[in-house]
Amino acid sequence: MTKFYLTTPLYYVNAAPHIGHSYTNIAADILARYKRKSGFDVLFLTGTDEHGQKVERSAIEAGLSPIEFAYQTVGKFKDLWQKLDISYNDFIRTTEGRHIKAVQKVLDILYKNGDIYEAKYEGWYCTPCETFWTEAGEDSPVCPDCKRKLEHISETNFFFKLSKYQDWLIDYFKAHPDFVLPSFRYNEALSFIMQNKLEDLCISRPKSRMNWGIEVPFSKEHVTYVWFDALLNYISAVGFENDQNKFKKFWPADVHFIGKDILRQHAIYWPIMLKALDLELPGRIIAHGWWLIGERHEKMSKSKGNVVDPIEMVEKFGVDSYRYFLLRDVPFGLDGTFSESSIIKRYNSDLANDLGNLVYRTLTMVDKYYSGNIPPCLNLAHNALIRKKLKELPQRIGQYMENLEFSSSLGAIWEVINLANKHVEETKPWNLAKENKHDELKDFIALLVEVIRGVAEELAPFMPETAEKIKAQFLADKAIKGAPLFPRIDVTK
Ligand code: ME8
Ligand code: MG
Repeated sequence: MTKFYLTTPLYYVNAAPHIGHSYTNIAADILARYKRKSGFDVLFLTGTDEHGQKVERSAIEAGLSPIEFAYQTVGKFKDLWQKLDISYNDFIRTTEGRHIKAVQKVLDILYKNGDIYEAKYEGWYCTPCETFWTEAGEDSPVCPDCKRKLEHISETNFFFKLSKYQDWLIDYFKAHPDFVLPSFRYNEALSFIMQNKLEDLCISRPKSRMNWGIEVPFSKEHVTYVWFDALLNYISAVGFENDQNKFKKFWPADVHFIGKDILRQHAIYWPIMLKALDLELPGRIIAHGWWLIGERHEKMSKSKGNVVDPIEMVEKFGVDSYRYFLLRDVPFGLDGTFSESSIIKRYNSDLANDLGNLVYRTLTMVDKYYSGNIPPCLNLAHNALIRKKLKELPQRIGQYMENLEFSSSLGAIWEVINLANKHVEETKPWNLAKENKHDELKDFIALLVEVIRGVAEELAPFMPETAEKIKAQFLADKAIKGAPLFPRIDVTK
């Protein structure tokens, strides 16, 4: 079996997950399920990023040690993934032994090869972002990213030679136009690398300032910078340090899912780290857009305090409606504004009216006309258009999924659903029954059942529970009518 290895970011454990985090994991889950269904040996990795200043500070505020604090949040992420039917195969925490050993092994290799060197740093530093800003010229400058006050620091640290690999990276990008998706993010990353001189990356922190991190193996006074540590999870999880067979099998990753906020780390630091280690690069990095919120369309983020709890949404609308909404409403890669009223709109039109109605009316007819026995199809030539569309559906979805176009995949499924609903309205089956057109009625209903089965099959990666429910209602030759899948939401209530 061909392997397929996909990853999500490792989320910081300084706060509970919100809709943004759930989005990335749902998208990755859909691809994982799709690839499994297509016969791949899938490894779907997610996890948590537990070191660094942010986590240390949140722990102190909560009156806990960083590791105790991390455990609490890890539990929240795992609970959420379970509620959202996220079918991950491995969950890596950066505080695990397998990861720590891998990071230290990497540091040793790069230090011995001369790609890591020690130097004195003097300049500006953003503590909340844990980022050095060499360009900040004024007396009391603010962070270009978060706009908070920068601190002036002077200390000895270890640096990774990004600059040495700049030309190589430009060439790599040019030779791999699919390396970053969507294409406008590829262009953005490439022009950044071409227009800026890459500075070497400071990959350590003095313990005197911050000690919640992986100790640098060649300096007792330093811990590893959290980003350098975290990115390595993608190789530590597949046995870089402890399982060569597994590593050979799964590395390189096929897809890294990320949000656009962490493109630079994944499209610049990470490829160079791998190159310096003489390892292959991942197939693709897909950087999706942001969920925004409110009238001012601000990014949803824990630091802004404007987050929506995904569990609350799932309890209100159901897990599959939530999964459907997130991946259908906004093309993957673009930003979207989140609101309950837009979920309800999608729910009522696409789920209650289109899909739910098709399933329910078909079950009702099988019940009424054939006492629940699904009639066989007598004449397959009938309604060739719907059959053709249904037959083409897997291939169309295959092409969309190749480019991670989730919304278009769902759009293709809904074309077939809508065609079937239109067919019901045009055929007026109640007249066929009245006029005793028995064969026509049988063919008509057999076709609807065929469509529903096909749709359920294609829908399974996106809406796994709904697909199961539909399959349970249409057995080999029996239809079992239950409650409507998506009862309409009355907005006036
Ligand atoms: O950056 N809309 O972790 P993080 C869409 N630990 N997606 C969003 C989002 C939003 N408003 N907010 C967050 C880190 N995300 C590092 C990653 S990887 C080796 C280390 C999602 O907890 C999106 O996937 O800040 C984004 O890239 C990620 O959460 C950032 O999570
Ligand atoms: Mg973040």
